[in-house]
Amino acid sequence: MPRILIIEDEAAIRRVLVKILSEENSSYQVEEAEDGLIGLEKIKNEDFDLVLCDIKMPKMDGVEVLEAVKKIKPEIPMVMISGHGDLDTAVNTMRLGAFDYISKPPDLNRLLNTVRIALNSKELVVENKRLKKKVSKNFEMIGESDEISIIKDMIDKVAPTDARVLITGPNGTGKELVAHWLHQKSERSNGPLIEVNCAAIPSELIESELFGHVKGAFTSAVKDRAGKFEAANGGTIFLDEIGDMSLSAQAKVLRALQESRIQRVGSDKDIKVDVRVIAATNKDLKHEIEENRFREDLYHRLAVILIKVPSLNDRRGDIPLLIEYFSDKISGEQGTIKKSFSDQAIKMLQEYDWTGNIRELRNVVERLIILGEKEVSEKDVKLFASK
Ligand SMILES: Nc1ncnc2c1ncn2[C@@H]1O[C@H](COP(=O)(O)OP(=O)(O)OP(=O)(O)O)[C@@H](O)[C@H]1O
Ligand SMILES: [Mg+2]
Repeated sequence: MPRILIIEDEAAIRRVLVKILSEENSSYQVEEAEDGLIGLEKIKNEDFDLVLCDIKMPKMDGVEVLEAVKKIKPEIPMVMISGHGDLDTAVNTMRLGAFDYISKPPDLNRLLNTVRIALNSKELVVENKRLKKKVSKNFEMIGESDEISIIKDMIDKVAPTDARVLITGPNGTGKELVAHWLHQKSERSNGPLIEVNCAAIPSELIESELFGHVKGAFTSAVKDRAGKFEAANGGTIFLDEIGDMSLSAQAKVLRALQESRIQRVGSDKDIKVDVRVIAATNKDLKHEIEENRFREDLYHRLAVILIKVPSLNDRRGDIPLLIEYFSDKISGEQGTIKKSFSDQAIKMLQEYDWTGNIRELRNVVERLIILGEKEVSEKDVKLFASK
């Protein structure tokens, strides 16, 4: 049953509200507080789904209560109650994050309606939070080595800015993971994260993929179509394997970055886009530039911040943690009992040459969980994970 708190100093109004919300509508549990201080204390110590709060009160007025609640429990919707004299203030509270306001004396229908909508909105906010948590859980970044701590620090610093980021590093080191975190921890996290694997798209299609096209631009363009840059508007575009992009596509991307504007293939109309660009590659772009396969000007546009993800061989200290994490995760996915790894087995794995980095380690752990004994032993590693 949703719990509602009414903060109101006038006993008569309080009585009316309680009557409407609890007696005539038995689906709410209603609590009362006769001033702002008492109300705030209750909010701190108990769980409420909605707060109705008078504006003009002695000791602590409604605006102060609202500001305090937004700091400690921002997910609780606040509906303000306004008298004749403070309608302007009531309107202003919306800017401070109030959900809505009602006027005195409260109108029965409007009150019940507002309460219902506000309670729904809270459910949505909570659900969104839960989903976000779930997403972050799927993208955990495991490791406590200095090498990975530096990367995590960089992500925390860079994510909230709009700076472009180029992520480099060998295969399977976690470049995509870094890109996800940069988006998740940015102010664009409610917007889309659009991933484009530049290596997987044939060069003659990449421009249309990125920028869209208009009907008739080429034979198979039977209708207008938006591209990935437009789809990423308000969010982030992740250009993965950027080192594999054709030179002509590079020129168009450069223009998009310089002008924050794109044109669909076959059209000369400019479309404004607000997109943060993150790119990744396992190629040595400096070398690609020397070989005239990558534009130097594009490189400098992309690499405002450069994040170099270390290879697993350079942070072997994280291997025990990663084994534990993957073994937990994989046994969870497969619904099997969790296997442990003997110290000897872990030590052996720590000494391997991990050319495929974390992705390879994950595969090896999976193989050992399927094939190894209950406690994965040195012998299992020799048998099933030898290289
Ligand atoms: N620090 C980490 N903790 C846990 N899992 C990780 C970590 N880094 C990478 N992984 C996992 O390893 C796998 C490979 O990572 P990812 O795809 O991000 O690598 P990549 O550098 O983009 O590889 P490629 O160059 O092949 O595209 C993924 O399953 C990812 O979730
Ligand atoms: Mg990748």
